Amino acid sequence: LNSARPSSLDLEAFLTHYGDIFEHSPWVAETAWEQGLTTQHDDADVLADSMGAVLQSADINQQIAVIRAHPDLAGKAALAGELTQDSTREQAGAGLDQCSAAEFERFQRMNQAYQDKFGFPFVIAVKGLDRHAILEAFEKRLENDAATERQTAIQQIIQIARFRLHMRAEAAE
Ligand code: GUN
Repeated sequence: LNSARPSSLDLEAFLTHYGDIFEHSPWVAETAWEQGLTTQHDDADVLADSMGAVLQSADINQQIAVIRAHPDLAGKAALAGELTQDSTREQAGAGLDQCSAAEFERFQRMNQAYQDKFGFPFVIAVKGLDRHAILEAFEKRLENDAATERQTAIQQIIQIARFRLHMRAEAAE
């Protein structure tokens, strides 16, 4: 399908297809398009590399804003059904919609502890992980310093974008 091929897309069409790849942050896709990084690309990995490079080279405040655009895992917004379609799918895929009351409370405590320490939410590419593996990673990452954790979150967000781009490419085939 032609729509899977960004090479021929003008900015508006490109954003229609890819503006939501980075959670509530369409400027990442827009900047990649404006820099000409997306003109030759019809490959999910190449697009992920291009948009990822934009996010990696953004200033720290912009990076933190993108991290903050992510909902908590197993958080109140998830319970209330207020997530984007992608987040809903990702969180359910990791079984986070099936937490027991005790697990749910543990996520709330850890989300709060993480937010208190770093000032942004815990973000992890959850594909292939179950909630036990996520909680284990959560415990470990709480020990990091802020600079390490910011860099880790940005890498995870680029990984999430890569999965989303692959899903779009498969859906368009
Ligand atoms: N990893 C994959 N999806 C999400 C999400 O919606 N929120 C957070 N915090 N991490 C994620």
